[in-house]
Amino acid sequence: MRKPIIAGNWKMHKSIKDGVAFVEAVKPQVKGTDVEVLICAPYTLLAPLVEAAKGSNVQIGAQNMHYEDKGAFTGEVSADMLLEIGVTHVIIGHSERRQYYAETDETVNLKTKKALSKGLVPVVCCGETLEQREAGETKSVCKRQVEAAFSGIDAKDATTVVVAYEPIWAIGTGKTATSEDANDVIAYIREILLGLYGEEVSEELRIQYGGSVKPNNVEELMNQPDIDGALVGGASLEPDSFVALVNF
Ligand code: 13P
Repeated sequence: MRKPIIAGNWKMHKSIKDGVAFVEAVKPQVKGTDVEVLICAPYTLLAPLVEAAKGSNVQIGAQNMHYEDKGAFTGEVSADMLLEIGVTHVIIGHSERRQYYAETDETVNLKTKKALSKGLVPVVCCGETLEQREAGETKSVCKRQVEAAFSGIDAKDATTVVVAYEPIWAIGTGKTATSEDANDVIAYIREILLGLYGEEVSEELRIQYGGSVKPNNVEELMNQPDIDGALVGGASLEPDSFVALVNF
């Protein structure tokens, strides 16, 4: 059985004070859940959040990292820097980074490999634009992105990866893919992984859905057989809403 993983992606939101207060509020309410709980916050919040989450089942992740260990890369943060402060997960290849910051299939692959080699859990995003969806390219886009992301990664490491299918047209728009549609694409992504790694890995690896997930639609999404969690933006920003997502 795959353990569901509910993750908040705070994007560029919250002060340290607000973030710490959020973790303090959420901690007792998600204690003992069967779901894996993750919050991916801006860099400046990470160390205080790790501290606030100590001794709880709330895990703290970053939203990006560089694929090199160190060097002249102004503004970047390495895997070791994240590990040093106790971060356990990192989102890689979010569509906003692909769209605004020149993230490519190749850098997604380099970052995924680096995260795995260092012991960080990569949450690797894929998903199509509205134009691609309307052109019937959803599956071919996801296939290309997933195959590229996993290139050169062996089966042992592959099971660690969390994939997040986030159709770009559903992000922040209030438009969710129907749970059947989301499951259909996610089942297809699992098929791709089956082709790459065989049944054991494809059955073990978790694939989240992301894009306008809210407390009122999370249960329906999570009831789908291939959806193993959610990567949530807007609805992860308030403690009550986040707790409702975790307790779907
Ligand atoms: P929303 O939940 O705000 O649509 O954002 C989804 C997302 O991009 C999570 O990474």
